[in-house]
Order: sequence, then C-alpha cells, then structure tokens
Amino acid sequence: MPNPRIAILISGTGTNMEVLLKACASGELPAHTVFVGSDKETAKGLATAHNLGAETKFFSYKSGRRAAEEAIAKAVRENNIEWIVLAGYMRILSPEFVHEFAGKIINIHPALLPAFPGAHGIQDAWEAGVSTTGVTVHIVDEEVDHGPILAQEEVKRLDGDTIEDLEARIHKTEHRIYKAALKNFFEARNKK
Ligand code: GAR
Repeated sequence: MPNPRIAILISGTGTNMEVLLKACASGELPAHTVFVGSDKETAKGLATAHNLGAETKFFSYKSGRRAAEEAIAKAVRENNIEWIVLAGYMRILSPEFVHEFAGKIINIHPALLPAFPGAHGIQDAWEAGVSTTGVTVHIVDEEVDHGPILAQEEVKRLDGDTIEDLEARIHKTEHRIYKAALKNFFEARNKK
C-alpha cells in the first residue's frame, strides 16, 4: 500500500503541523503531506511549512465560508487527498463539507472531549478549575470538536502550575500523541 496522501489545515503557529511534517519526512508517520493549507495568509505555520519544503495554499474566507470550502474541497479532490488533518484549524467546517468527506477529517483538541470544546479548550478547563484535562484526537463529525475518538491522554494540573505551565504540557502531549494516533489509524486502515 502506498502511504496515504494527506492535507494539513492550520490557522496559526502550526507547531502540531510542524511535528507531523517532520514525522512524514523521517518516515515515523507513514503518510505523504501533499499540501498545508490555511485560512490565514500570514499564518506563521504557512511560512514554517514552506521552509520545510511543503506546498502551501491559502483559502480565503473573504467571500464567505461556502466559497472557501469549495476551494478546499477542489484542492482535496484534485490532489487525491485521502485524509484532511486539522492542526489548529480554527474555522468551523459546514455540515455539507463534513458530509462530503465523512470519516476523512481528523482533528486534535487540547482538552478531554466531550469536555471543553471550542476555541479556548485550555483556558476553559483552567477557569473551570479541573484537576485533570488533556488532549483528544478524533474523527470530525457535524458538531464542533466532536466525533469518534481515536486517542485521548490526560494532562494533570499540578500544584503551583500557571496556565502557561499547563498549556506547555498540553502542547507537548499533543506533539507526541497526534503523530502516534495518526500512525495507528493509517496502519489500521491499510490492513482493511
Ligand atoms: C492546538 O492546541 C490545537 O489542539 C488547538 O489549536 C492549537 C494549535 O496550535 N485546536 C483547537 O483548539 C481546536 N478546537 P499549533 O498551531 O501550534 O499546532
């Protein structure tokens, strides 16, 4: 089986994307990243991806979500992308888009879903005062930060933690489990 062709979508810094790109390049993650796309032309992660030799694409939402999603769907179809990997993509995908690529969109979220979905998972868990939060990798369904869970790992809030300390441990966990979860998922698919 050839390695699956993936596209990674980001909106910001792209540290998860960077880990995934490097894992693809080293062979640790058996996948081929065909392009890295963003809804933000100036996203730091797009420059990082470019510097790592990846093809980058900007999907403008200026003319609305429908037009942006049509452009993404076109790029996905034309490039025979098998999996759309969200790595800090902060746009809500429409039910129509999710339906077209049902089961083919994967996301990482910095909380133990179904707890604390949304754009501020770390802060919301912090403000709720939970002693344990974590990271979730899941298949995307029509609801925000929702769908079948592929991997989940707890991250404890420690005595004396600042939110920055907790955030740093969550990101470290994300960087470890996203590539591992994708590897398991792709390998299981290849065996089917
Ligand atoms: C990550 O923590 C990711 O889990 C989160 O955005 C961050 C992106 O960081 N995603 C969500 O909150 C999705 N609801 P990165 O750009 O450095 O990878």
